[in-house]
Amino acid sequence: MIELGVNIDHIATLRQARRTRYPDPVLGATLAEEAGADLITLHLREDRRHIQDEDVRRLRPVLRTRMNLEMAIAPDMIAFAKATRPQDVCLVPERREELTTEGGLDVLGGFDAVRAAVAELEACGIRVSLFIDPDRRQVEAAHAAGARIVELHTGAYAESADEASSGVDPGCASPTAEATRSASACARELDRVRVAASRAHALGLRVNAGHGLNIGNVEAIVRIPEICELNIGHALVADAVFVGWQVAIRRMKSLMLAAREP
Ligand code: PXP
Repeated sequence: MIELGVNIDHIATLRQARRTRYPDPVLGATLAEEAGADLITLHLREDRRHIQDEDVRRLRPVLRTRMNLEMAIAPDMIAFAKATRPQDVCLVPERREELTTEGGLDVLGGFDAVRAAVAELEACGIRVSLFIDPDRRQVEAAHAAGARIVELHTGAYAESADEASSGVDPGCASPTAEATRSASACARELDRVRVAASRAHALGLRVNAGHGLNIGNVEAIVRIPEICELNIGHALVADAVFVGWQVAIRRMKSLMLAAREP
C-alpha cells in the first residue's frame, strides 16, 4: 500500500494573495478526502504566508483521515502542536526568505534540539517525522534522535527528473548531450532516495517522501518498495487550475496505485 498525503498549503496561498475568505483550505481538505486522500498535510510557517493558526484549529475536528502538521522546531510551534494534537508532526527546517522548504532538516548538526523536540511531541502521543535529505548519515541521526518516521526530501530528484524529461524531443533520433547529462543526474538522485529508503527501513523507520512530485515524475518514487506515503501539494493545486481539484487528486492516486502494483 502507498498513501497519498494531500498538502493544502497552496489553497491558502491563493486565499492570502487577496486576503479573501476563499478558497477555503478546510473545504479543500474535505474534498481531498472524498477524492481519495489518505491524510491531509499542512505547513504552519513562521511567517504565516499561507496556512493560519485558525485553519489548523478548524480542520482538526472535521478531518476523517489524519492530520500531518509540518512545522519548524520552535517553542511556540511545539506548544501549538501540543494544544492542537495532530496525529503526525513533520519537523522541517525553515528560513523565512525561502520560496519553499529548501533542503532537509540537519538532524546531525542540531541533534540535541531535534531529539528534545521529538521526545516532547511523542510524550503527547504525536507521531513525529523528520524531513531529511536522502543521506545515510541523516537517516541514522534521525533514528538515534528517536523519530519513528523519516520523510525523504525528493526535491533534487524531482528537479532533475523534470529537467531530463523536458530535454527529450520526441522528433529527435538521439538525445542531446544536455538531455543525457540530466538523465544521469536524475538516475543519481533517484538512487540516493533508494539507498536512504532502504537504510531507514532496515533501522525500523517508516519511510515517507515528498517535495516537487508531480504526475510526470512520481512513478519512479512509488516503485521504491520501502516508501509508505507521499506528500504532494504544489503540483496538485497547479493541476487543479486546469482539471479541477478532485480530478487532480484522483488522477495522482490512481497513478500511484497502478505504479505500486507488482
Ligand atoms: N513534504 C514536506 C515536508 C514539505 O515541506 C512540502 C512542501 O511544503 C511537501 C512535502 C510538498 O511539496 P510540494 O508542494 O512540492 O508537493
